[in-house]
Amino acid sequence: MSYPLIRPRRMRRDEFSRRLMRENVLTTNDLIYPVFVHEEKGRSPVPSMPGVERLSIDELLRVAEEALELGVPVLDLFGVPDPAAKTADGRIAWDPDGIIPRAIRALKARFPELGVMTDQALDPYTTHGQDGLIDESGYILNDETIEALVKQSLVHAEAGVDILSPSDMMDGRIGAIREALEDAGFINTRIMSYAAKYASAFYGPFRSAVGSAGNLGKGNKFTYQMDPANSDEALREVELDIAEGADMVMVKPGLPYLDVIRRVKDAFGVPTFAYQVSGEYAMLKAASANGWLDEKACALEALLAFKRAGADGVLTYYAMDVARWLRQG
Ligand code: PBG
Repeated sequence: MSYPLIRPRRMRRDEFSRRLMRENVLTTNDLIYPVFVHEEKGRSPVPSMPGVERLSIDELLRVAEEALELGVPVLDLFGVPDPAAKTADGRIAWDPDGIIPRAIRALKARFPELGVMTDQALDPYTTHGQDGLIDESGYILNDETIEALVKQSLVHAEAGVDILSPSDMMDGRIGAIREALEDAGFINTRIMSYAAKYASAFYGPFRSAVGSAGNLGKGNKFTYQMDPANSDEALREVELDIAEGADMVMVKPGLPYLDVIRRVKDAFGVPTFAYQVSGEYAMLKAASANGWLDEKACALEALLAFKRAGADGVLTYYAMDVARWLRQG
């Protein structure tokens, strides 16, 4: 009998050598926590996302204090407006007294050292639930939407946001927003573009959380978000956004698109982020609630996988839990 001379299991035998050859690590520095901010008082749970609540600005400040204490670097704010205030053009999206600008101002006044990021898209604010302005046939108008996104971006910048993150997938919006920021003197406002954003069915629970699901109805976002079948196209999208002035790029959703993260990181070497979206979170929550998965072990494994794929950080609804778990060791 001939034995193997090379035994990879040697290095796996003890904890010390497993630690020694560990290639990737997930830390609290990698986390961005998405939060939903509503016009109502207190908190209201999102049924399809157990553990996630829509927050009033007062409650947001409590969460922000905890995030700071736990070392989570950035909160990403999503607005949940009063449904009666929605219009076809989504104009409350660029109201300086809208929910998001008020939330930004409250956060930056109380916790200036906490990173604040916001989403640029019209879907929570429109009666049709699309991310942009539509024509009579329902087609999403590119250049008219960009004008709206520029207004929304400038209002957020004026309120003091640190990172803008356009999530709409219009052509040319990064360049237009960057130019408007420079012209207005906001030279340090960072942009994380949703560069490779797919038309994914995994966004379902998010659309319930911001209240756009009912408005969107049977509509879809296939004419602007990317086809899940493509990855060369993702590289072209990322290349454009970098050329137009994005500081960071994002791939979304996360776990089903690890190959795209790896390709983007290898091709461009820019700060690259992944979004573990609402549906990914809901799957882990549902299976754990049934006792089918070990929640903490699976969530940490999924998040580490983003690091292994080349992501510099992850937007995750697990951010606060992970920060607590990592602290416990
Ligand atoms: C809005 C937006 C969406 C998400 C982030 N920004 C939904 C969509 O594009 O329909 C999804 C986030 C998630 O599912 O967690 N443009």
